[in-house]
Amino acid sequence: MGKLFGLLGHPVGHSMSPVMHNDMFTLLGLNHHYQAFDVEPDKLKTAVDGIKALGISGFNITIPHKVDIMEQLDHIDDEAKEIGAVNTVVNDKGKLIGYNTDGRGFVTSLKQAAGEDLSKQSILIVGAGGAARAIFISLVNMGNTKVDIANRTLEKAEQLIQATTKVTKSKAITIIEAEKCLDQYDIIINTTSVGMSPNIDQIPISLELLKPGTVLADIIYNPLETKWLRIGKEKGAITQNGVGMFVGQGALAFEKWTGQTPDLKRMEQVVIQQLS
Ligand code: ATR
Repeated sequence: MGKLFGLLGHPVGHSMSPVMHNDMFTLLGLNHHYQAFDVEPDKLKTAVDGIKALGISGFNITIPHKVDIMEQLDHIDDEAKEIGAVNTVVNDKGKLIGYNTDGRGFVTSLKQAAGEDLSKQSILIVGAGGAARAIFISLVNMGNTKVDIANRTLEKAEQLIQATTKVTKSKAITIIEAEKCLDQYDIIINTTSVGMSPNIDQIPISLELLKPGTVLADIIYNPLETKWLRIGKEKGAITQNGVGMFVGQGALAFEKWTGQTPDLKRMEQVVIQQLS
């Protein structure tokens, strides 16, 4: 029997998730459907009660509900607890289980550019907000011991370094410090909104000292190639745009819901088509 999946957010009008998931259901011959629901913050509990009553099989959560949803769930996976936010819920026979696929989804996509084993690589995350937190926690939990964080507000980077209980060699640094030792990093990830449309002329960190062959990943997908990635490419970096993280988190959610592995390349094509 076909199952129903959804997205709860506010607003959700421009979400690329419905087309991406529905295309993959069709491709794999699954009679399922994914629907976006615009849920205002004061209606979140009512929406979740409705999901339970209707037996909706699973759903994604996006802004502004990723933290507040946690109160409404029956169980939360350890990594999602550590990240402090949930973006994917599985309805397991009436029990709602919360996960966060943002960090691991990003790491899965990063491996396409940086290779399977990231554990020996020296990594720099620029930014210390919600997206940085998901990526940092997942990287550390997946065995990476050197993941530094550079942020405009140093205290936020320090708090993030302390958010993991794992022993690491990671440290919080200022943007200026990071610029001075940029050539020490094998992978640099921009998690800030700097460079996003309409401010497409801004870059989050200078790439003057970038060494060729460094992997540069941006989580911005509007524009598809930020100025920062373009400069990096000209200096010999291997670049990855923000479609990777979006598709990665969606693919992991898809696996949790259906038990099937989706075609990442196809999902990527569908998303790029929507963006253009
Ligand atoms: P998200 O949840 O999408 O990660 P967020 O929590 O608002 O968003 O985090 C935004 C990040 O981008 C922060 O690290 C922020 O730096 P501060 O902690 O100093 O605020 C960073 N950021 C946003 N605009 C910036 C700008 N113009 N220059 C430098 N950093 C910026």
